[in-house]
Amino acid sequence: MRDNVDSMKSRHAIEGRFRQRVAVVSGGAAGIGRAVVEELCREGAAVGFLDVSEAGTAVAEELGAAGHRVAFLRGDVRDRAFCAAAVEEVLGRFGRIDFLVNNAFSFTSKGLDVTHADWERVFQAGPEAFALLAQLVAPAMRAQGGGGIVNVSSISAFIAQPNRWTYNAAKGAVNTLTKCMALDLAPYGIRVNSVSPGWIWTQEVDKAAGGDRTRWEPVWGQYHMLERCGEPVEVAAAILFLLSEDASFITGADLAVDGGYRSLGSEGIGKTSSFAGSK
Ligand SMILES: NC(=O)c1ccc[n+]([C@@H]2O[C@H](COP(=O)([O-])OP(=O)(O)OC[C@H]3O[C@@H](n4cnc5c(N)ncnc54)[C@H](O)[C@@H]3O)[C@@H](O)[C@H]2O)c1
Repeated sequence: MRDNVDSMKSRHAIEGRFRQRVAVVSGGAAGIGRAVVEELCREGAAVGFLDVSEAGTAVAEELGAAGHRVAFLRGDVRDRAFCAAAVEEVLGRFGRIDFLVNNAFSFTSKGLDVTHADWERVFQAGPEAFALLAQLVAPAMRAQGGGGIVNVSSISAFIAQPNRWTYNAAKGAVNTLTKCMALDLAPYGIRVNSVSPGWIWTQEVDKAAGGDRTRWEPVWGQYHMLERCGEPVEVAAAILFLLSEDASFITGADLAVDGGYRSLGSEGIGKTSSFAGSK
């Protein structure tokens, strides 16, 4: 399994599934968003990615040096003027927009202690920014005869977790928003879907592990049938599938990219259960 992931990560040649295509990705400087930017580039797309972090500069330089068409737009997706200017910039530079991947989100996780400012942050960076970017790219997609949008949700949209009112409610909203967007944009040939990852080893998870993956992956891996956490490139592969022509009859759907997390019941992977059925 890991061998497959490693070979996915080391593919560099431009393979061309998305040649002549242009994508906008939010939160493309790190983690899942960065993997999406890299995979789209590798498949021949031009990519404009938005991120509040300066780390995006190095990502864009690296991809540009490898011959990819890429633009880094630095700013916060909660800033409506920035989003509008960023979409204009991508259109100006690359001439069209075929895909949008709404990925940047706030990890603000609060429960009984939640404040108004917390709600504002998580919903503005989440569902509101997802909707705004879709509104901004839709006219270009519509004029071109179609497009694809993928919203990054989470297993957290479907379950209760401790002290997660904000994050889980915002992810739940993303899934409902995805269905509403899919309905309203279908007449224009724009398909809208979401992906719901399980635990993916990115900087946020690494921070929670105190940088000790060897210690924590065996613990958190048990939440998944595959007994490991996922890699950003595995989520990117699912997103690219949903954007591609292979998914031409898929819209309004959510694709679990969670190693079996959501299909498990309270018994987990069964290691603590002695009942194995009748013989
Ligand atoms: N890592 C996981 O286990 C996991 C699981 C389920 C869902 N997700 C979802 O996947 C997406 C990406 O998560 P990740 O783990 O790759 O995160 P990450 O922290 O590794 O990367 C997120 C990127 O988004 C940028 N960003 C955050 N807020 C922004 C804002 N307001 N404006 C612009 N850029 C902003 C950050 O600077 C960062 O570069 C999120 O929607 C997250 O909720 C992650």
